Amino acid sequence: MPETSTRVDVHPLIAERWSARGYDPTAVIDDDDLTAILEAGRWAPTWGGLAPVRFVVGRRGDETFEALTAVMKRGNRTWAPAAAALILVCTTNEPDDVMKHEYGALDAGLALSQMIVQSVALGFNGHPMAGFDKTAAAETFGVPAHLRPIAMLAVGRVADDPTSVPAEIRERDAVPRTRLPLDHIAFAGQWGRPFE
Ligand SMILES: Cc1cc2nc3c(=O)[nH]c(=O)nc-3n(C[C@H](O)[C@H](O)[C@H](O)COP(=O)(O)O)c2cc1C
Repeated sequence: MPETSTRVDVHPLIAERWSARGYDPTAVIDDDDLTAILEAGRWAPTWGGLAPVRFVVGRRGDETFEALTAVMKRGNRTWAPAAAALILVCTTNEPDDVMKHEYGALDAGLALSQMIVQSVALGFNGHPMAGFDKTAAAETFGVPAHLRPIAMLAVGRVADDPTSVPAEIRERDAVPRTRLPLDHIAFAGQWGRPFE
């Protein structure tokens, strides 16, 4: 697993999270685990209690999974079909209501985040994706007009044997993960004055 460097320790579920691509294409997810991941998403905080987030869920081999794979951008189609499950995340589509529209997106992000953490807790990797045709996804699944597909989540098992993963995917997974240092992003007193 590529390193997550932090100034102090963070919870292992956060430290161990990363967006992998080298999934085991034979791994499966059982009903309880997939349900737990959806429950984690369901119980994310939601602005105004509106709870606009909806999921469309497929397991590798089923019709929904195939349809979700079909609307992915080419780059994601190289690795995400090896996931055990794919979850389409939909949220508010009300551009005339700025608050609802904006916070609907935030709700979706929070739901994704909770689903990713729950995936890690269950030994899976959760990898969010925006790289898919949102219009096609909405048409395929009949998403109502007041909602919009906003992201997809791949839930997979990282392959035990990295040599079983195509070299191109292995190389992408080996790229060091980086973030801006904390003192570049966390301020106190004045913008730009690092939080110590
Ligand atoms: C909203 C969003 C959309 C993303 N879309 C894609 C995607 O389409 N394909 C992909 O491979 N990764 C996607 N990612 C994953 C990011 O590339 C990844 O989180 C980033 O490189 C940081 O790596 P880490 O998650 O391992 O820390 C997306 C992440 C977010 C938050």
